[in-house]
Amino acid sequence: MNQKIGILDSGIGGTSTLEEIKKLLPKENYIYYADSKNNPYGEKTPQEIYKIVKNIVEFLIDKNCKIIVLACNTATTRCMKKLKEEYPNTLFVGTVPAIKVACDHNSKHTLVLATPSTIDSERTSELIRDNKRNNQEITLISCPTLANAIERHSLKEIEDILLDIKEQVKEKEIDSIVLGCTHYSLIKEEISKIFPNIKLLDGNYGVAKEVKHQLELHNLLNEEGNALVEYIKS
Ligand code: DGL
Repeated sequence: MNQKIGILDSGIGGTSTLEEIKKLLPKENYIYYADSKNNPYGEKTPQEIYKIVKNIVEFLIDKNCKIIVLACNTATTRCMKKLKEEYPNTLFVGTVPAIKVACDHNSKHTLVLATPSTIDSERTSELIRDNKRNNQEITLISCPTLANAIERHSLKEIEDILLDIKEQVKEKEIDSIVLGCTHYSLIKEEISKIFPNIKLLDGNYGVAKEVKHQLELHNLLNEEGNALVEYIKS
């Protein structure tokens, strides 16, 4: 079964997810679609995001991908339900802020960082409703411009945004940070410098496990690939 795994994001963020998937599935081949032209998704309306993501999904379907990974929390929280309805014969895996992981690990006070669109989504509220216990606290901070600063490798801007976030939570005893945007996983080192000794959580390993599970379930695993990635940039 040598069809490829299709992965999309609004730029380089989803490469953090791709790397984790490649570790679990080294015999697959991949198409990675970096939609940098439309970055940031997180500051667009849900309708705009859906239109953009749908176009890339159709492109990956035309490329005969056997599964499509939305390596983007914004795309997943805003588009996944509708995509599954509109393309019932396509396998999708998405990524959402790792709020469940933080709650299951007994985090007392979790800080969730994500794009404005992800923070405001019904899916994020649902994740909190379903997982947060009474003795746990969750603080949500929406980070406009952070994903775009990462996309442009603008270290000074990244540092200023992180320092501003630190200022906003200075009275709180945060013990874990959920990186609710795949771009943020690329700056773990910078985040740890500003928030030392705080656990950083992302959904990348969970996504990789789910991709593997879906391919096994549908008998779609490849035995002959060698983790070749075809990169496409808009
Ligand atoms: N990497 C994306 C995410 O996980 C979004 C970045 C953007 O705003 O485009 O949410």
